[in-house]
Amino acid sequence: MENTRIIGDGLEVTRVGLGCMGFSHAYGAPTEKSEAVTMIRKAYDMGYNFFDTAECYTGTNADGSTSFNEELVGEALKDVRNKVVIATKFGVQHSPTGLLMDSRPETIRKAVEGSLSRLGIETIDLYYQHRIDPKVEPETVAELMKELIAEGKIRAWGISETTEEYLRRAHAVCPVAAIQNRYSMLAREHEKIFPVLEELSVTFVAFSPLGNGFLTGKYDATSTFDEGTDFRSHMPQYTEEGFKAAEELMKLLNRMAEEKQATSGQISLAWMLCKKPYIVPIPGSRKEERLKENLGAKDVVLTAEEIAGIDTLLDKMVLPVYGQNPARK
Ligand SMILES: NC(=O)c1ccc[n+]([C@@H]2O[C@H](COP(=O)([O-])OP(=O)(O)OC[C@H]3O[C@@H](n4cnc5c(N)ncnc54)[C@H](OP(=O)(O)O)[C@@H]3O)[C@@H](O)[C@H]2O)c1
Repeated sequence: MENTRIIGDGLEVTRVGLGCMGFSHAYGAPTEKSEAVTMIRKAYDMGYNFFDTAECYTGTNADGSTSFNEELVGEALKDVRNKVVIATKFGVQHSPTGLLMDSRPETIRKAVEGSLSRLGIETIDLYYQHRIDPKVEPETVAELMKELIAEGKIRAWGISETTEEYLRRAHAVCPVAAIQNRYSMLAREHEKIFPVLEELSVTFVAFSPLGNGFLTGKYDATSTFDEGTDFRSHMPQYTEEGFKAAEELMKLLNRMAEEKQATSGQISLAWMLCKKPYIVPIPGSRKEERLKENLGAKDVVLTAEEIAGIDTLLDKMVLPVYGQNPARK
């Protein structure tokens, strides 16, 4: 089994990447800076080489200062810069009323300088448009990406939560190396874009691949999350209804985990890794043992029959959907 996957023209990444968002954002209070830097560095030492962050992954530290996720990633990886692939994102800001999308070229120009400076690097390996801005055409964004590549500010670009039409139009102007969409056993709506990715040779980087931790089986209906800082407190899977709907799935994952001497979380990552050779999940964790566990999914093999068996069950499941979930990021 290959140990790495290639994104675009030659970004060689480990089969499982690390989503760094939770160190600053959306999963409770930010991790204390030196602890976060140490943990991200440990992830590199244990074998991760693909790190995901974003301009807007920020949070408020206990002392009132801001935790900038990009700074944590940059600091942790500064002496191994040439051995890692760093992905970050532009085009979204958080506001009390929700996400603000802004992909105007002048905004992206400022954003790229900010990200380069917080990361402490000269070139961003993979630069994603975090969300489509309905006021800006895909061709306009793609033209700017072409310029940024020519200027050496980015090596490749991608789009997060893209549609087929947007991807095709953008790709025609400047080839898109990867999309980053939500994908897990709890969220399979983007499977319909697989044929397009195959046609265009675009990688699918799967965000929230563990269904926000749910598929690890380590939580239950009594688990509680901080309302103000932990988005799981609003997520539909973490409700009684959600646990009930996924009961059969979790039993199957447990059973398969036992058979393969793996964990439920590893089975849920192996399911996508073994399904398509162009999928790269980026689970997030702030705990050393879990980082190891998640990376270990790269060695778990599921056969086509086993994947089909899981899919058949998923097809029958009626899950509470992320849909209009206010916590959706
Ligand atoms: N493009 C986008 O719009 C977008 C949106 C969301 C996320 N992302 C990216 O995708 C990455 C991953 O997504 P995500 O963090 O939302 O979801 P996820 O990876 O599905 O789940 C993360 C959650 O699961 C827990 N967890 C992880 N491994 C575990 C394990 N082995 N056992 C038990 N619990 C475990 C983590 O808690 P602990 O930290 O306590 O272990 C965390 O609460 C993010 O870090 C971010 O980089 C992108």
